[in-house]
Amino acid sequence: MESHPVLNRLALLLTLVASVPTQGVGASPGVAQTGLSKRQSTVTRYCDNTQTPGLCYMESWHSVMPPPASIQPSTLVVRIAVPDGVSQGSPFQTVLQMVMPSYVKWAGFAWGGSMLNNPLMVFWWYNQTQPMVSSRWTSTRVSPGVYNDATYRILHTSQNASHWTAEVVCSGCSHWNGTSLKYNDSNAFKWALGVFDVVNPESLDTKTSYHNKVGVFSGNLSLARVPSDVFKKHIGEGGSPTPTPTTSWRVFPTFVPYPTSSP
Ligand code: HEM
Ligand SMILES: *[C@@H]1O[C@H](CO)[C@@H](O)[C@H](O)[C@H]1NC(C)=O
Ligand SMILES: *[C@@H]1O[C@H](CO)[C@@H](O)[C@H](O)[C@H]1NC(C)=O
Ligand SMILES: *[C@@H]1O[C@H](CO)[C@@H](O)[C@H](O)[C@H]1NC(C)=O
Ligand SMILES: *[C@@H]1O[C@H](CO)[C@@H](O)[C@H](O)[C@H]1NC(C)=O
Ligand SMILES: *[C@@H]1O[C@H](CO)[C@@H](O)[C@H](O)[C@H]1NC(C)=O
Repeated sequence: MESHPVLNRLALLLTLVASVPTQGVGASPGVAQTGLSKRQSTVTRYCDNTQTPGLCYMESWHSVMPPPASIQPSTLVVRIAVPDGVSQGSPFQTVLQMVMPSYVKWAGFAWGGSMLNNPLMVFWWYNQTQPMVSSRWTSTRVSPGVYNDATYRILHTSQNASHWTAEVVCSGCSHWNGTSLKYNDSNAFKWALGVFDVVNPESLDTKTSYHNKVGVFSGNLSLARVPSDVFKKHIGEGGSPTPTPTTSWRVFPTFVPYPTSSP
């Protein structure tokens, strides 16, 4: 029966919010640790040789709590790459890659480390197969509206049984309203995820659902720098063919609701 999908979603959401007291920023104490634990609070440099050309990224791993036991590993990864040779104060393009557990319906990213007053990215799947990326901004804690001073292009998506990956390039995410990313210094970034669909998945300006988890990390963008010619080729500029986003769809495991009590 689909008579009140929004109300049903809301009821589920309220149940979820009420039952997840640890929902907050960063990893919770008492989280079951895995071999990945060392990488959760720090950023490292990761190089991907599976694409041509591959990039090196600043990489940050996080565990999603509480992890549905049937879906392991319940980790997410955020990766950022920027071109080198940028002169102080100049805008630059930024590549963002997010690896999400398959039950995640939308992924968000805040370039200035806050939900408020900085460029936001929201990525989701329409009709399970069509990747969607939307540029957002908000000055209040409501579903962020479209932000036209930054634009995104999807570079790559992939999926397997446990995770999906989306890679996008942004023009306009390095500078905003009098502030900017620190090119040679530490920056705070935040991510957000929703396990319920955005309201109108077919529309780039859709309202999102409320997030079920947010997290933070910081890192020196020097870890994200790659040679600018490699960066340009990767994003399909400078005479390189524009990469065609490809998607090979797999049916994900049925969504498993979060446990109603903390571990
Ligand atoms: C219906 C939509 C949304 C509502 C009502 C909402 C509301 C809120 C509220 C009340 C908080 C503070 C409580 C908390 O930390 O959990 C928060 C935090 C946060 N939100 Fe949202 N949000 C929405 C969508 C989004 C989207 C689409 C993003 C995408 C990037 C986002 C990013 C964040 C981040 C990164 C935080 C961490 C706290 C911060 O530094 O501001 N939110 N949100
Ligand atoms: C959505 O997916 C279904 C099933 O794969 C397909 O039949 C339908 O044409 C798709 N709709 C759009 C608008 O892509
Ligand atoms: C699925 O994809 C994720 C993200 O790329 C990867 O970490 C994981 O190893 C993959 N799982 C399998 C079974 O290939
Ligand atoms: C930019 O910052 C100014 C001063 O803090 C503020 O009044 C203005 O609303 C901001 N613009 C946006 C788009 O948030
Ligand atoms: C980064 O900062 C260091 C030390 O402050 C400086 O030596 C170096 O030249 C800077 N690099 C860039 C790319 O600005
Ligand atoms: C960022 O990294 C660069 C290059 O390694 C270094 O020179 C600079 O001092 C770092 N900044 C901070 C705040 O660590």
